[in-house]
Amino acid sequence: MMIKLDRVLPILLRLAVPVLVLGLFSYPPGLRPNSAHAEDAGNLYNTPIDIRMGNRYFERQCSRCHGFDAKGNDETGAPNLTGRLRRASTHTGIFNIIREGVPGTAMLPVAADVPDATVWQLVAYIDSLRYDPASVELAGDAETGSKLFAGKGNCSDCHMVNGRGGRLGPDLSRIGENKTPEDLLMAMMDPDQEVAPRWWTVRAVGADGVIREGFRMNEDSFSLRIMDIDSNLWSFQKRDIENYERREKSTMPSYVESLSDSELNDLVAYLFSLRREVIAQ
Ligand code: HEC
Ligand code: HEC
Repeated sequence: MMIKLDRVLPILLRLAVPVLVLGLFSYPPGLRPNSAHAEDAGNLYNTPIDIRMGNRYFERQCSRCHGFDAKGNDETGAPNLTGRLRRASTHTGIFNIIREGVPGTAMLPVAADVPDATVWQLVAYIDSLRYDPASVELAGDAETGSKLFAGKGNCSDCHMVNGRGGRLGPDLSRIGENKTPEDLLMAMMDPDQEVAPRWWTVRAVGADGVIREGFRMNEDSFSLRIMDIDSNLWSFQKRDIENYERREKSTMPSYVESLSDSELNDLVAYLFSLRREVIAQ
């Protein structure tokens, strides 16, 4: 699907401004969401230059696992560092993870001769990637988005939110935690851009000659299991398969044509609000 850039760019820019501003510069100390934590007063290495140094170090030492954008990598198991962190909620907590690693995982401590200042610069960099969702101003309206989700958009045919909806796409109950508003918009405008292997589809012709198409649930050297659109599971022995085709595209339609800019904005606001903790207004 080609995307009409003249249409996407203005929406992206509108969405992106608050996020970029919050993402690139750190908060003034008084506005910092966690400024109440006494131990957090400790990071003296928090200027834009420190953040840049932290970024540089990150690219050299951390990006091979966490990715250049720090959004994580399924293959290495390294988590996304741009949303809420699982193991740390304070600057000191992040410092300790980098200093000490996470025992029993691939997350090793930094070398002992790396000075504390460098570790604090990494903390400042990671901190700059996160933003307080409550302070992101979005053009759309989450409540209208929620109605579109279940109604005109047909999103709930495929997506589950808090136990309601279909299983033909990922559960979106907490999608707001790890995605920026731009990611969410792009997921609706260009679904093919990034499709996790779980959502690839295969088309197989078995010994009975019948064509079956569905998500590739399991595959090993000898067998293949797919789930079709009605949630039926089909197992094949590979030696019986006459013909086999794999599609690495999304089964989700693009909404560039079928929804207006303001409807897309409303859906972004709704999706962004989906998280474990409700955003205080
Ligand atoms: C060899 C791969 C690898 C490298 C290199 C690596 N990490 Fe990690 N990191 C991981 C994995 C895997 C985890 C998840 C550990 C767990 O909690 O199970 C992790 C977890 C983390 C966490 C905690 C995330 C959370 O949600 O609480 C932080 C912070 C972190 N890494 C920062 C860094 C920084 C900074 C560097 C570079 C100095 C770095 N990592 C280098 C693999 C790596
Ligand atoms: C025909 C089924 C189907 C419909 C209808 C559908 N989706 Fe999807 N959606 C998927 C599948 C499959 C994926 C995973 C593959 C991909 O990333 O495109 C997905 C992915 C997504 C993602 C990215 C999730 C992630 O974890 O990265 C978002 C966000 C999303 N859909 C939102 C929506 C919204 C909002 C609507 C309605 C406007 C919608 N979807 C309609 C099937 C569907």
